[in-house]
Amino acid sequence: MCGIVGYYGPKDPKDVIVGGLKRLEYRGYDSAGVAILDGPKNDQHFKVVRAEGKLGELAKKLETVSFTGHLGIGHTRWATHGVPSERNAHPHTVDGVSLVHNGIIENYQDIKADLAREGAVFSSDTDSELVAHLLARKVKETGDLFKAVELVLPMLTGAYSILAVWEKQPDVMVAFKNGPPLIVGVGEKEMVIASDVQAIISHTNKVVYLEDFEIVFVKGNDVKFFSAAGAPIKKEVVTITWTADQVEKAGYKHFMLKEIHEQPRAVAAACAPHVNLETKRVKLSDVGLSDEQLRGIERVFIIACGTSYYAGLAGKYLIEQLAKIPVECDIASEFRYRDPVIPPRSLILTISQSGETADTLAALRLAKQAGALTLSICNVRASSIDREAHGHLYMNSGPEIGVASTKAFVSTLALLNLLSLYLGQVRGALSVKDEQHALEQLLAAPSQMEAVLAYDKFFAEAAQKLKAYKGILFMGRGINYPIALEGALKLKELAYMHAEGYAAGEMKHGPLALIDERMLIVMVCPSDRNYEKTLSNLEEARARGGRIISIGTGDNHALKAVSDHYLSLPKAEWNVNPILESIPVQLLAYHVANAMGHDVDQPRNLAKSVTVE
Ligand code: AGP
Repeated sequence: MCGIVGYYGPKDPKDVIVGGLKRLEYRGYDSAGVAILDGPKNDQHFKVVRAEGKLGELAKKLETVSFTGHLGIGHTRWATHGVPSERNAHPHTVDGVSLVHNGIIENYQDIKADLAREGAVFSSDTDSELVAHLLARKVKETGDLFKAVELVLPMLTGAYSILAVWEKQPDVMVAFKNGPPLIVGVGEKEMVIASDVQAIISHTNKVVYLEDFEIVFVKGNDVKFFSAAGAPIKKEVVTITWTADQVEKAGYKHFMLKEIHEQPRAVAAACAPHVNLETKRVKLSDVGLSDEQLRGIERVFIIACGTSYYAGLAGKYLIEQLAKIPVECDIASEFRYRDPVIPPRSLILTISQSGETADTLAALRLAKQAGALTLSICNVRASSIDREAHGHLYMNSGPEIGVASTKAFVSTLALLNLLSLYLGQVRGALSVKDEQHALEQLLAAPSQMEAVLAYDKFFAEAAQKLKAYKGILFMGRGINYPIALEGALKLKELAYMHAEGYAAGEMKHGPLALIDERMLIVMVCPSDRNYEKTLSNLEEARARGGRIISIGTGDNHALKAVSDHYLSLPKAEWNVNPILESIPVQLLAYHVANAMGHDVDQPRNLAKSVTVE
């Protein structure tokens, strides 16, 4: 969950690496560092600068430092082994070999014991430094960094991506991986290696994705790929469509706020490829699964983590109601270890914005081993999950940089609508009229969302009062229940406040005891078939002294009468309501966290892409 950047080329490596790390900071931000060649032409050594804390601390240190070389590596860290500190920050350098690492070396204790026996002296508490020691020993033997990597790779177990450089080969970068992503940007006379395309797109849009147990060898302007056994392999150069301006804040205070405001466009972009405008019906384009395969599905398992899991939970309601297929929804880290029974003719649907979440990827692999048909919903094309699934749906949200997921969530809700409608269509579970009506509602969502974004102002003004509550209970029924869960997750991760998401009908089985006048209730209560029952739950909460924000449909007097604040959403069908309801709960968390002075884009202890278990 760290960010890695390496550069060889004519530009100032410091600028490229720090610029790249800035765009990867969402991956980890407890310390950062660079190692860049410096010194007279024929006697260059790595000058290493590292700092505890966010990238800004490193940038301050680097202000007065310059480098003469054209090769360097950098890292932004999310600590696994060793506390966040300058001493544990990467790069780790041993005898002229410097490396950055993302992941975990699981056999580090054995390696450390062996190295200690040989007299190695350690300067950090990390597992990563041990790999630098191993490589330093092997370059001494072989005189070549690539050969050293070939020898060291089989000695490592765990999930890792590692980028190494050696001062004796000042135009060489060698990187390899098993797990966390690594991407090579192939520029005009320059090479960038990074954890994510966002660090590369300012320099080139030509990239190569490394697979597990592959090694990339950059020498000057040349790049070659090899298997772990040293056999040359041919790799496809992919042209990426994301642009550099998509990863800027565009005048917003935070990426998260920008991304919240981008949501109408994100939903439209998710829908666009899958709508037949002539027939006004859903056509799943380029999904990679045939109608026959989709018709044959008898059970769906939706597997994801965090916000993607909550989107999946909404998908359960959509698929069951629209396509009449039973759905199980699982947290990936639970699914993979519970010996799941996957009957024949099951579809495993994995959802992941990043496409790199370790547990979701492992669950996908497990399902494939069991012979199941798999379909992924990802935002990042060519990410590991996207590459490994049989079928593919794309969020098309553009880069999501705020650690808190927003636009990927609503894009997924839109895709789950489309998938459900299409499954309903091919299986004959849905009349053409009902499909067209639901689709029409979905296509109206982007303009309705624009109207809901006006609550930005309300929450900006209300935030000071809202942050004083001891906690917030989010509640909803049916397909609105996952939005309650998502609202609570957002508040926890951004405002570090106690929040719970509950199925409103479950309230009297326990959480009602939490309610008093210091507890805020956010009741998601649109005019759908559960409305009356949810309204009764709201009354129960109010009777216990809870303060109420209700989110409902149109000008609802009954809700207004029983709420401290009533937020009105445009009239929509049940399948679209969650997309509209997401906006106020996101804005609430954003503004409360902002009012508390938190770093909204980089909440404490978190990283956007969770590539370790
Ligand atoms: C959401 O705000 C989170 N930061 C987190 O729960 C996230 O959704 C989860 O880690 C899954 O990520 P993915 O969609 O990239 O797999």
